[in-house]
Amino acid sequence: MTGTTENIKNQYRAIEAVKAITEHTSIVLGRPLYYHVTTFGCQMNAHDSEKLRGILEEMGYVETDTEDCDFVIYNTCTVRENADKKIYGRLGRLNGFKKKNPHMMIGLCGCMMQQKEVVEKIKKSYPFVDLIFGTHNLSEFAVLTRKVFEDNSAVVKLLDGDNSGLLESLPSKRKYSFKSGVNIMYGCNNFCTYCIVPYVRGREYSRSPEDIMDEVKRLGDDGVIEIMLLGQNVNSYGKTLDNPISFAELLRRVEEIDAIKRIRFMTSHPKDLSDELIDVMASSKKICTHLHLPLQSGSTELLKRMNRHYTKESYIDLAEKIRERIPDIALTTDIIVGFPGESEKDFEETMEVVDRIGYDSAFTFIYSKRTGTPAATMPDQVPEDVCHKRFDRLLELVQRKARERALRLEGKTLPVLIEEKNREKGLVTGRLSNNSTVHVRAGEENIGKIVNVSLKECKGFYYIGDLAD
Ligand code: SAH
Ligand code: SF4
Ligand code: F3S
Repeated sequence: MTGTTENIKNQYRAIEAVKAITEHTSIVLGRPLYYHVTTFGCQMNAHDSEKLRGILEEMGYVETDTEDCDFVIYNTCTVRENADKKIYGRLGRLNGFKKKNPHMMIGLCGCMMQQKEVVEKIKKSYPFVDLIFGTHNLSEFAVLTRKVFEDNSAVVKLLDGDNSGLLESLPSKRKYSFKSGVNIMYGCNNFCTYCIVPYVRGREYSRSPEDIMDEVKRLGDDGVIEIMLLGQNVNSYGKTLDNPISFAELLRRVEEIDAIKRIRFMTSHPKDLSDELIDVMASSKKICTHLHLPLQSGSTELLKRMNRHYTKESYIDLAEKIRERIPDIALTTDIIVGFPGESEKDFEETMEVVDRIGYDSAFTFIYSKRTGTPAATMPDQVPEDVCHKRFDRLLELVQRKARERALRLEGKTLPVLIEEKNREKGLVTGRLSNNSTVHVRAGEENIGKIVNVSLKECKGFYYIGDLAD
């Protein structure tokens, strides 16, 4: 990491230089210059996009909700092949906008851009793209943009050093004023054999607890009441720091910040989930009653080949222990169907775990081959039709179980953080501590507040409720 003051100063100088250019263009055009950042992928990317928005605003751009504007950035994901396909599809449309608007800048960043083949393909087949940068170069966005303007040519910057640590010193524009993500670690060292994330996000490292606390305090001072601590495997947080601390200890410290009322985190790897963490969650008043605990497969044999380091039995024991200690907890998960070599028996074991645990919700994915990962060259890739049939059976079970779980809360009165207005008039939408969505018959003045809501009706995956006080 090269988190030097000089580097940060360079970014701010670049922001000023671009601002002079946008101001000039804006006068010539007689209108503001507009930007749009489209995020694909996970919470990490969503958080990175907030940084891009913050920097774009400092550069003088104004946010708009259409991609037909002056600066569009796609913050890409590459976890499954579909994610890549989506980007190529949408780039054609952007080119249409650019033909009408010669001032338009098109930038691509995020995980997909960490792959050389992808960048080559874009340079060759989509030459209208002005700027490509990787996940490690996000903090250099301003300097790179300035270069595009000054050199009047496309700029590509990838895999060169790692400046992620600089990011926290740069501006940010949050989607919600009252809640925010906070990166506690970057990268991933787990190398699950199907997964491309460790290759595109690089090695795992933890930010210091002091830096994290400073950031959370600043957010609290700025009106944030809910934070989401982000990492690919938060349970291994702090292990490699000079003064190692556990994730549970970090949570304890964050809990002491008065302004913060709700604490969430993503993602927990089952192999590293400690009793200390369960204790902290059980005794906390602020940590939300939600745990995302990816299962991936219920077959011990498959889990071994996925390099997950737990068994069907140890996962079930863990989930049951958590449910026992924290009865209100919502357990959610990720499951992959059709990992190479998945037999009918392996799949049945996944179904069995889902049936037994009864997740509050689950993301189910069909295995997608990612070039460069060990699973891509494993024998016995599962035929597509078999994958689809299994996927449908799993989805049916997951949804039935989730509906059963959701019904338990019907009729209760629980705190809801109201997050946004609903498309339907007279309704606002928020979340329970367990992360379920609630549409509340209440006014927009409640947005950003935690209010007690009586959950009148469970609609399967969400509730309709009324203010209780
Ligand atoms: N770090 C997180 C996961 C991030 S990726 C964790 O370990 O839980 C989010 C999810 O995408 C994974 O949990 C997995 O279920 C899914 N996924 C990752 N690679 C995939 C692939 N090649 N095909 C299908 N699903 C995949
Ligand atoms: Fe991918 Fe596994 Fe790392 Fe999650 S823990 S990002 S699934 S390698
Ligand atoms: Fe996708 Fe990158 Fe997240 S590949 S899931 S955006 S870490």
